[in-house]
Amino acid sequence: MNVLGIESSCDETSVAIISDDKLVANLISSQDFHEKYGGVVPELSSRAHLQILLPLVKKALAGANISSDQIDLVCATAGPGLIGALLVGLSFAKGFAYSAKKIFIPVNHIEGHIYSGFLMNDKPEFPYLCLVVSGGHTLLLLVESDTEIKKLGTTIDDAAGEAFDKISKLLGFGYPGGPKIQEAALNQRTDYKDFPIAQCKNEYDFSFSGLKTSVLRFIQKEYGEASKIPADHLQLIAASFQYSAVRALTTKVEKALQNYDVSSISLVGGVAANKMLREEFQKLSVRYNKKMVVPSLEFCGDNGAMIAYRGLRLHQNGIKYGFDFNAFPSLADHTFIR
Ligand code: KG4
Ligand code: ZN
Repeated sequence: MNVLGIESSCDETSVAIISDDKLVANLISSQDFHEKYGGVVPELSSRAHLQILLPLVKKALAGANISSDQIDLVCATAGPGLIGALLVGLSFAKGFAYSAKKIFIPVNHIEGHIYSGFLMNDKPEFPYLCLVVSGGHTLLLLVESDTEIKKLGTTIDDAAGEAFDKISKLLGFGYPGGPKIQEAALNQRTDYKDFPIAQCKNEYDFSFSGLKTSVLRFIQKEYGEASKIPADHLQLIAASFQYSAVRALTTKVEKALQNYDVSSISLVGGVAANKMLREEFQKLSVRYNKKMVVPSLEFCGDNGAMIAYRGLRLHQNGIKYGFDFNAFPSLADHTFIR
């Protein structure tokens, strides 16, 4: 079976092809031009997806040596994400599938990230704990099967990636913040300032707005304003922030490991690219003797491969969609996460 996966929920246009369970193409085109605006501009994102999507599909098919009529299953991200951006990929995929009489499966973006773990040779084993950390989402999930995903906790304010992006902006590093904070924090001590980790009513929930405020207050108190922070102190603040943000995530995973009997743990989403987070996750997997699945960097950020794979798993589970599924935005809510 040949599966086409399309991702266009934010600032990456990505097209992937899975052929007989093997990933044979995963092209990612990143919209770097948003950097000068300090964040993603939705209208510009939609236009860029529209320009690049068809050439990318053609390139993926050519690279995989597959003709468009050999595609059996078409999958596209249906949400959540930027509405205009999503509609570009979704409408293209629906049009492609409808005209060629192929099967179409809309895929929830978060479920796509969860299944990026399955793109690795060594796959997660059910039931497992999955930490989804991206620019828009922070979720701790108990994945029991392909169609039973329990939400243990989520963020009550900012997402983890959003916190990295906001602190990066505050420190003058720019967008996207995660990689910039990581770079600034490299080889720095982490105890320059002990930024607090928020406690939430639900023990598995996350909160990052308090951490953000405490970084801001510290800067105001010590330096007056961010532009007056010496370069070496910027690195120390970045390192202390990163340490707290990572601990805010791993303490919840550790709590869940103590309370749920699972086979594996998995870390996915854009923030899963963070080196310190990967290292701390690894330590947890060793301490609790659990198999760990963390996707390679190519599959941490948004990509079509995870969408194709999730769509394929839904198809294998007998999940069907016509072309008359509820129109956006209710489709964005379609998910097996409960
Ligand atoms: O999954 P993703 O590509 O898009 C969303 O679905 O949101 O995640 C993007 C987020 C951004 O907030 C970015 O700053 C963050 O992932 N990120 C990182 C790192 N690389 C990307 N955060 C921390 N450390 C990194 N190395
Ligand atoms: Zn994402």
